[in-house]
Amino acid sequence: MKVAVTGANGQLGTDLCQTLHNFDVIPFTHADIEIADVVSVREAMLKHNPAIIINTAAYVRVDDCEDKKDKAFSVNALGARNVAVVAQELGARLVHISTDYVFGGEAEPRTTPYTEFDTPVPLSIYGKSKLAGENLVRHFCLRHFIVRASGLFGTAGSSGKGGNFIETMLRLARERDELKVVNDQVFSPTYTGDLARKIAQLMATDYYGISHITNKGASSWYEFTVEILKLAGITTPVVPITSDQYPQKARRPRYSVLDNSHLRLLGMDDMRPWQEALKDYLVARGHIT
Ligand SMILES: NC(=O)c1ccc[n+]([C@@H]2O[C@H](COP(=O)([O-])OP(=O)(O)OC[C@H]3O[C@@H](n4cnc5c(N)ncnc54)[C@H](OP(=O)(O)O)[C@@H]3O)[C@@H](O)[C@H]2O)c1
Repeated sequence: MKVAVTGANGQLGTDLCQTLHNFDVIPFTHADIEIADVVSVREAMLKHNPAIIINTAAYVRVDDCEDKKDKAFSVNALGARNVAVVAQELGARLVHISTDYVFGGEAEPRTTPYTEFDTPVPLSIYGKSKLAGENLVRHFCLRHFIVRASGLFGTAGSSGKGGNFIETMLRLARERDELKVVNDQVFSPTYTGDLARKIAQLMATDYYGISHITNKGASSWYEFTVEILKLAGITTPVVPITSDQYPQKARRPRYSVLDNSHLRLLGMDDMRPWQEALKDYLVARGHIT
């Protein structure tokens, strides 16, 4: 069976292409396809006629999206629509990747995990553009899986962000006397290898709709950093700070933990705790044995 993957050399795309080795994978990098251009998407997909399209491609630079609104919406919203329209034309299933940043904008701060049945209220342009993408996918492609993930870390590192948080913290911990890390943004760290394996299982079912797929548990960036350094055996002190002490262009949710309710209702939620996944990541990257 042919499976097309957009963003194939990205953080998640790389792991998907490896995980799906039993399929006839057609990897599309940004050099092969421009999702913001429906002609590019149609031409690329028609050549291969995949049975499943997995769209990981996105404009993921959350702060830059605030200044480049048009780019954010043309890639994350219209790009998602283009892939959905072409998937529907081909009769293909579509797996579209979305984000926890569609949540967090309510007046009353949330303290319990979001399910697929909660109404998204995004805070940032990135979140709004990804939510618009979800809605367009739902409208234009009948057999869709919208997969919301959170705080991704993968051995390939984010192509759009130029690395990942773990590698940055390990480097800074070796360079600096102490690290100051935000403690009031809580999310579900998720290993792209685990996410890719669960997507492979989900796309073989008829369980269409929205699915949250994250590793188990929750963490702030501060707690995540403490665990990274502990596992790596680095003793550099980590100081918790607030988001106000680390101003960023885009507003981020104070709490965007996702509950994998859909998977759980289907008996498919065996996602492991993020701490175990982090350990595997550090081994895979050669930081620990
Ligand atoms: N990273 C996170 O923490 C996180 C959390 C939740 C959800 N997500 C979602 O998960 C998905 C994968 O994220 P990731 O971390 O794997 O990102 P990534 O490493 O930046 O990969 C994204 C890929 O998409 C490609 N791309 C970007 N714009 C494109 C366009 N207009 N047309 C075609 N390809 C394009 C990029 O290529 P170039 O780099 O060459 O442009 C890159 O290969 C995204 O949909 C993202 O919104 C990410």
